[in-house]
Amino acid sequence: MAKFRKIGVLTSGGYAPVMNAAIRAITRKAIEEGVEVVGILGGYSGLIKGDMIPLTPRSVSNVITRGGTMLYSDRCPEFKTEEGIEKAIKTCRENQIDAIVAIGGDGTFRGATDLTRHGIPTIGIPGTIDNDITATDYTVGFDTAMNTVLSLIDDLRDTCESHSRCNVVEVMGRDCGSIALNSGIAAGAVAIAIPEVPFDAEAAIEKIKKVKADGKRGMIVVVSEGVKTEDGQPIGEFLTKKIEAETGIETRFARFAHIVRGGSPTLRDRLTSTLMGAVAVEQLLAGKSDLVICEIDGEIKPVEINFALIVDRMYKNKLKEGDLEGFSQEQYNEMKAICAKRKAEIDHLYDIARVVCK
Ligand code: ADP
Ligand code: F6P
Repeated sequence: MAKFRKIGVLTSGGYAPVMNAAIRAITRKAIEEGVEVVGILGGYSGLIKGDMIPLTPRSVSNVITRGGTMLYSDRCPEFKTEEGIEKAIKTCRENQIDAIVAIGGDGTFRGATDLTRHGIPTIGIPGTIDNDITATDYTVGFDTAMNTVLSLIDDLRDTCESHSRCNVVEVMGRDCGSIALNSGIAAGAVAIAIPEVPFDAEAAIEKIKKVKADGKRGMIVVVSEGVKTEDGQPIGEFLTKKIEAETGIETRFARFAHIVRGGSPTLRDRLTSTLMGAVAVEQLLAGKSDLVICEIDGEIKPVEINFALIVDRMYKNKLKEGDLEGFSQEQYNEMKAICAKRKAEIDHLYDIARVVCK
């Protein structure tokens, strides 16, 4: 077992509502193993500045129910520079921090790799509401965000039913439609627009007219922020006007935006975040680093960060020249299979939505 005296934990990038559960699990698991824990405040900025607090089993009491991140989050351009990383390493050396767990998205994992390369073993935990990290089936925060969207749409439906209206709802997800797709199905949206599947606005409008003629009063359309108009604007407001103009149905627009990132985390998120936190500590203490803790087919397991970053680029069609160098044919095939599986799952759900939501 690699014997560390002290590990640091930080949250970075766009926070997800269940990061506190991971912080709590990491703290308690590490202390159980005889390792001290410090919380770095404000992500990589805090590491550069040396801003940190000691964490104890009691100081993380009750945080599992709270949204936000008790360690705060930040985006830190300085950390991407050689000077920035050197300052961060200096902080670790001066404070006897032997290893780090970084909770965040792909940007955070790139930073984690830099830390490992500079001698501070680091492991990542995928924390983002978007569920857009291809190597893992699940990112913590996703379930809470979807349930928040669901609850808000259920409330909107009261107005829609009462006034016989349509409401277009835009939800976050950057370039990933998973929040929109899942919560749209669960909320019974008549149409769903996500970036992964070409959106047929005319077909959606025909469907709205048809279900209206069938006697449906309230209608919800869910669009992901990543679906854009021809001039690059999020499609929601444009679609709202188009639906009203072409169907004659009074139509309103709601952008849920950052509200979806808040709130007390769900059971699914608390549990997964806790398991990932514990596994991250186990892996570090076993001498492993440069890993991201994933959920794959229901199992929590580590994946090399570089593999995770490249499979993510492959899925998003963002591979750069040389990205695949150093990977075996077997790894390449594995990446292809991961991408195909994810795409098939989304297509399948979208097809179900087309048939069931009307
Ligand atoms: P997320 O982790 O949610 O993807 P960002 O992309 O904003 O969020 O990344 C969070 C932080 O991680 C950045 O502010 C920066 O400090 C660090 N980071 C991002 N990209 C890199 C990179 N290429 N190299 C080193 N650090 C990075
Ligand atoms: O990646 C998480 C996320 O919430 C996205 O869904 C969204 O596009 C983005 O962050 C918003 O970032 P910011 O908080 O910087 O506006």
